[in-house]
Amino acid sequence: MTVMTANLAGVDVRAEIERLRKERNAVILAHYYQKPEIQDLADYIGDSLELSRRAAESKADVIAFCGVKFMAETAKILAPEKTVILPDLDAGCSLEDSCPPEKFKAFRAAHPDHIALTYINCSTEVKALSDIIVTSSSAETILSQIPRDQKIIFGPDRHLGGYLSRKFDREMLLWPGVCIVHEAFSETELIKLKAQHPGVPVAAHPECPPHIVDHADYVGSTSGILNYAKAMPGDTLIVATEPHIMHQMQLAMPAKTFIGAPGADGQCSCNICPYMALNTLEKLYLALRDLTPQVHIEEGLRLQAKKSLDRMLEMASGTVGKGDLGAR
Ligand code: 13P
Ligand code: SF4
Repeated sequence: MTVMTANLAGVDVRAEIERLRKERNAVILAHYYQKPEIQDLADYIGDSLELSRRAAESKADVIAFCGVKFMAETAKILAPEKTVILPDLDAGCSLEDSCPPEKFKAFRAAHPDHIALTYINCSTEVKALSDIIVTSSSAETILSQIPRDQKIIFGPDRHLGGYLSRKFDREMLLWPGVCIVHEAFSETELIKLKAQHPGVPVAAHPECPPHIVDHADYVGSTSGILNYAKAMPGDTLIVATEPHIMHQMQLAMPAKTFIGAPGADGQCSCNICPYMALNTLEKLYLALRDLTPQVHIEEGLRLQAKKSLDRMLEMASGTVGKGDLGAR
């Protein structure tokens, strides 16, 4: 990072990104958890499902994916002819890390009568071992299409799986992965915050553990939470997901107040995703300039992983990017 800063002295990074975006015919996709300065120059901001669709439909030659690695890999799986760059290839995900492909393969082999319904937050190898991928915005629509007598393995997020299992009153075998960011919310601090703001609703991402989700008036994906904030009758919302989404909320609804749900000591920054935070404007500029780091996926693996993603896109076709798991 020190070397990079020195090399960029005198460079107008924003202007260079603008120039390179046109020169390379690049589209910049950004997740809601990206830093505000990245969100502000993105062509599209969205949740995991929306960004996958954008990648699949894009006419650009280069996709600059400002998110984490599994998202950039998804873009490459769906749009193999495009150059897919990610500002920092170390931008991983604790859910992906929790689910090594060889262990997932063995788990599947031990339950041959189960299908694998798998959260998109996983490696390409795990996608290739899965039957259907879901995002938090498409999970409910997809699960409702699977016959009730069909046994299901759900991985790697046990909280999203548990939430769906409770809501649908349907047993699923859950892989024990968690998102370290959503795990860090404190129920005690949330109760205190609610007491300070009586009547103010709570919106939570389903990656949160049940002791947080149980306090929520609305549970949904990042886009779902954003839409809930627009539609809610009041002017204040407690938000239990990665706090960078509040940048978009504040831009869209300047008159409303958004309060981030607290972490363990009430004011830690433990709910900022450390992986998403690896991306910076400087790294985005360098990636556009040098077309590296790039995502590469072996073709056989890509085709295998694409099957489960295609199933998701087909089965979620009625989900118009609303990101809705709906009210509890
Ligand atoms: P969504 O944007 O699909 O809600 O997912 C959040 C997430 O897991 C990002 O890592
Ligand atoms: Fe992974 Fe959680 Fe970060 Fe999303 S917020 S990338 S699920 S660690």
